[in-house]
Amino acid sequence: MWRLLALVVFAAVPAMAGDPYAFFDWDVSYVTAAPLGVKQQVIGINGKFPGPVVNITTNWNVVVNVLNDLDEPLLITWNGIQHRKNCWQDGVLGTNCPIPSGWNWTYEFQVKDQIGSFFYFPSTGLQRAAGGFGGIVVNNRGVIAVPFGRPDGDITILIGDWYNRNHTDLRKMLDEGKELGMPDGVLINGKGPYRYNDSLVPAGIEHETIDVHPGRTYRIRVHNVGTSTSLNFRIQGHNLLLVETEGSYTTQQNYSSLDVHVGQSYSFLLTTDQNASSDYYVVASARIVNESLWQRVTGVALLRYSNSGGPASGPLPDPPQDQYDKTLSMNQARSVRWNLSAGAARPNPQGSFRYSSINVTQAYLLRSAAPVEIGGKLRAALNGLSFVPPETPLRLADAYGVEGAYTLDFPERPPAPDAAPRVARSVINGTYRGFMELIFQNNDTRMQSYHVDGYAVFVVGMDYGEWTEASRSTYNKGDSVARSTVQVYPGAWTAALVSLDNVGFWNVRSQNLDSWYLGQEVYVRVVNPEDGANKTEMAVPRNALYCGQLHKYQKEQTPHHKAAAAASAAAVRPLAVRRQIVALVMLVVGALVFAS
Ligand SMILES: *[C@@H]1O[C@H](CO)[C@@H](O)[C@H](O)[C@H]1NC(C)=O
Ligand SMILES: *[C@@H]1O[C@H](CO)[C@@H](O)[C@H](O)[C@H]1NC(C)=O
Ligand SMILES: *[C@@H]1O[C@H](CO)[C@@H](O)[C@H](O)[C@H]1NC(C)=O
Ligand SMILES: *[C@@H]1O[C@H](CO)[C@@H](O)[C@H](O)[C@H]1NC(C)=O
Ligand SMILES: *[C@@H]1O[C@H](CO)[C@@H](O)[C@H](O)[C@H]1NC(C)=O
Ligand SMILES: *[C@@H]1O[C@H](CO)[C@@H](O)[C@H](O)[C@H]1NC(C)=O
Ligand SMILES: *[C@@H]1O[C@H](CO)[C@@H](O)[C@H](O)[C@H]1NC(C)=O
Ligand SMILES: *[C@@H]1O[C@H](CO)[C@@H](O)[C@H](O)[C@H]1NC(C)=O
Ligand SMILES: *[C@@H]1O[C@H](CO)[C@@H](O)[C@H](O)[C@H]1NC(C)=O
Ligand SMILES: *[C@@H]1O[C@H](CO)[C@@H](O)[C@H](O)[C@H]1NC(C)=O
Ligand SMILES: *[C@@H]1O[C@H](CO)[C@@H](O)[C@H](O)[C@H]1NC(C)=O
Ligand SMILES: *[C@@H]1O[C@H](CO)[C@@H](O)[C@H](O)[C@H]1NC(C)=O
Repeated sequence: MWRLLALVVFAAVPAMAGDPYAFFDWDVSYVTAAPLGVKQQVIGINGKFPGPVVNITTNWNVVVNVLNDLDEPLLITWNGIQHRKNCWQDGVLGTNCPIPSGWNWTYEFQVKDQIGSFFYFPSTGLQRAAGGFGGIVVNNRGVIAVPFGRPDGDITILIGDWYNRNHTDLRKMLDEGKELGMPDGVLINGKGPYRYNDSLVPAGIEHETIDVHPGRTYRIRVHNVGTSTSLNFRIQGHNLLLVETEGSYTTQQNYSSLDVHVGQSYSFLLTTDQNASSDYYVVASARIVNESLWQRVTGVALLRYSNSGGPASGPLPDPPQDQYDKTLSMNQARSVRWNLSAGAARPNPQGSFRYSSINVTQAYLLRSAAPVEIGGKLRAALNGLSFVPPETPLRLADAYGVEGAYTLDFPERPPAPDAAPRVARSVINGTYRGFMELIFQNNDTRMQSYHVDGYAVFVVGMDYGEWTEASRSTYNKGDSVARSTVQVYPGAWTAALVSLDNVGFWNVRSQNLDSWYLGQEVYVRVVNPEDGANKTEMAVPRNALYCGQLHKYQKEQTPHHKAAAAASAAAVRPLAVRRQIVALVMLVVGALVFAS
């Protein structure tokens, strides 16, 4: 048995700057689970899989002490949290040295001007395929209005495809040049599907049940934390009123279902206005694939009213019918618009929401393709360049004048079609306070999504075919939503605009874990040329870890494995218990002797 070792320590105390602090203590370790009926080691936080929801309020300082109780290096990244001026806390290999096995490292960052739904996950070596993820809720401060009434409850739902092979086996497959293939299923909050069909779902699998009361309104936050599958999310018999995505309030619209791509987060208001004659299915099914072949890649949970008449039965609610209309999902994506009159949670910098009147100063067309062999290894590239994680984090290399850690010559346009892709550590030279256009062109036959760390980007357009200069005339110039993960349909492009006001080194990555692991990522370096002092960027944190060429600055830590310690403590317990019994007996005997 695994014991819950470190409880989440949560406190709000006044800080010097006046903004409250929230403290968390996380022991990240393997936990045995069998979400799809096959026993495997998953990554838990304080013994829990998935990890706890981080429930904080905008402008709070967040301190998370992470103990790496795994047998390999670890970093936690905070998907969608902007870490203003502070890429030191971003938890990716371009900015942080990984936390060695048995060591701990304390993240400390402020969630500045952000309100909404985000999530965290382990960023190194395909670990997300084994868990270690959880939701982040950033609440508004009381003084800031929210464009809807206070919900009766707040429910985080993590959906994601899942493999019965563990992350080390999956990694081995990619290293050997194999594709991961179709996932074995979809988990909802770490649990397998409800047995809605005896021939499709084996017996003995634990499913998730979401308990609600009738006649109420709940905010549900849905995150796709999976490896590479886009998922259609729907709840039988209920409308999903979309209200927010990744920190932007959207125009409020009802959807019977919504496609949530890998790495994306949405929140909906769910009104429990149905008759509760039975439980209702909550479904997350594979999308933008041949759905009849991918039937097993379906997550099913139950929505249970407190007055429910009994279990759900019968077929699942239908997925979108678009076998003959590939624009259906894209049109739905285009319908997600920003609510311009909602006062709060405007992206930084203030004023950039008038994005259509700002001139673009840099434009990058980033073309992706299916993985190819480079030097005998399977690699994935952007603009023909496949990124290799650095031994010395790029930002740290800059701070210490380490030369040759990277080059600043990432190409603005894809290479000629016949140019051979290569491995490189090439970085985008972002101009501080410039306005950058990022166009993702997906030349793969698979759905992709891309994430930009440090920023929210305005998703101004997407369409099938090749992007051309003329495509700019189709951009949404008024109410594009600002978010951090954008989907790119196969054979299509997606364009985004971003104001480069946040100094640092920022990861732009494929959210599909396999593409990312194989090198489909790049960094954008943003430096304020006039900044000698710490005005626009925070200094190297005092607890920074050092590795690679800077290894000499690192002080050793005594490895401290709580899970291992607990296991050995459990093994000696019988003896300890026996000693206690002996002591107790002696006490009783002593008392009797004394009494007589
Ligand atoms: C993953 O599974 C393989 C067996 O398929 C096993 O050898 C390996 O130790 C496992 N890794 C972890 C982290 O559980
Ligand atoms: C999250 O925090 C908010 C604001 O502090 C609080 O109202 C709410 O009850 C918390 N939710 C949970 C599930 O703890
Ligand atoms: C972790 O790091 C902090 C300092 O950041 C230290 O006080 C603590 O003792 C360390 N160890 C563990 C096991 O958390
Ligand atoms: C936008 O936000 C405003 C202000 O909070 C709200 O009154 C309005 O209903 C919202 N509009 C839509 C279309 O969601
Ligand atoms: C279960 O799924 C199989 C395969 O799709 C299908 O043929 C069968 O009709 C389903 N059973 C029920 C009871 O829906
Ligand atoms: C959404 O659907 C609910 C019924 O489930 C309805 O009451 C509400 O008016 C709809 N809202 C919008 C904005 O369409
Ligand atoms: C409850 O609603 C469902 C449709 O959502 C309907 O099929 C069923 O007949 C209703 N039951 C009652 C008792 O009204
Ligand atoms: C999807 O797979 C089925 C086989 O289950 C096949 O009949 C169908 O043609 C495929 N559809 C497409 C669009 O490839
Ligand atoms: C944008 O560029 C146009 C033409 O190059 C110029 O006339 C205009 O003043 C610029 N706008 C801003 C806000 O710089
Ligand atoms: C990077 O861009 C800045 C302008 O923002 C420019 O001054 C500098 O020369 C560029 N560096 C390289 C290596 O191109
Ligand atoms: C990939 O690019 C080539 C050359 O432009 C084009 O012919 C092909 O249709 C594209 N495929 C996809 C899936 O975008
Ligand atoms: C920046 O901050 C660090 C630590 O907070 C300090 O050591 C350093 O002197 C500061 N640099 C400047 C130029 O103020």
